[in-house]
Amino acid sequence: GIVEVQIRFRVNGEMGSDHEYADVNWDELGFRLMPTDYMYMMKCSQHDSFSEGQLTQYGNIELNASAGVLNYGQGLFEGLKAYRKINGGGLALFRPEENARRMQMGAERMCMPSPTVDQFLHAVKHTVLANKRWVPPPGKGSLYVRPLLLGSGPVLGLAPATEYLFLVYAAPVGNYFKEGLAPINLIIEEDTCRATPGGTGGVKTITNYAPVLKAQQEAKKKGFTDVLFLDSVNKIYLEEASSSNIFLVKNNLILTPKTGGTILEGITRASIIEIAGDLGHQVEERPVSVDDLVDADEVFCTGTAVVVAPVSSITYKDRRYSYNCGEHAVSRRLYKSLIAIQLGHVQDKKGWTIQI
Ligand code: COI
Repeated sequence: GIVEVQIRFRVNGEMGSDHEYADVNWDELGFRLMPTDYMYMMKCSQHDSFSEGQLTQYGNIELNASAGVLNYGQGLFEGLKAYRKINGGGLALFRPEENARRMQMGAERMCMPSPTVDQFLHAVKHTVLANKRWVPPPGKGSLYVRPLLLGSGPVLGLAPATEYLFLVYAAPVGNYFKEGLAPINLIIEEDTCRATPGGTGGVKTITNYAPVLKAQQEAKKKGFTDVLFLDSVNKIYLEEASSSNIFLVKNNLILTPKTGGTILEGITRASIIEIAGDLGHQVEERPVSVDDLVDADEVFCTGTAVVVAPVSSITYKDRRYSYNCGEHAVSRRLYKSLIAIQLGHVQDKKGWTIQI
């Protein structure tokens, strides 16, 4: 069962230990699990709705061996970040309602009840506050928040689980790729398909991720950073990398594959589309083919974990296409504009950050 923990409430209602920071070497953060103090859990049965959850000590959870998620992969995840603002400006979350809504859409696709937007926000906010000492100092990284929605009830025949668990944990993170902020090298994998029309590529189901591990491992063995997947029907349209969306830059034009059920609707993707428009670029969401790789000036990836990663090269059918990723690259400017909003270096005129 769940172990309830005693959480000390301070006068201002915040939770956590007395030390402002956990004992972490903040200069060495990568994207690895560093366990924190608390997680949030909320349960509900199949035809019910979620009611009340609680913070518990971070750790193992108990699941029935026949839990829907373990047997049939009935599960979704989300990812969002909390930042510590400069000059003691407190903590901010970046567009958390978008994650809440995306989880609701995914839950519908995966036959699961989902938390309301308010319940999701409440859980995320309390998980971050309880783990406040793990939020890196400004400029050193962020607290990555991982909400999960799992079919926890027992099933044997293929059917939706009878009980569901919504769980939120968090871990301090730095750069996603081992390259840090340096440009990455992608390889197009033609034999493995990430998603198919009518499938679940557009929602954040846990079942979209393990099937790309083998291609990712092969790519890494060959010295590439990550894999870029093509559409499964024509095998010529770019879809996305294993954990991020893809963009191309051609002169003043910015292109990104149009979503339509096979591509994840990234929140960073949507934010970059908007920022690029504000900066005067023409942005087109349309099918982007492998032919577009030939005359692109720049390529970059976006994602919550990845943020904006410049792509130095893409290898396709044994040809290597190289791209500009210098100091003056468009991707640099977009990256700087995005993190300036996230870190609170500029006024957030879009209402994307939520102070907690
Ligand atoms: C994220 O960017 O938050 C994701 O969920 C991708 C994950 C594979 C790290």
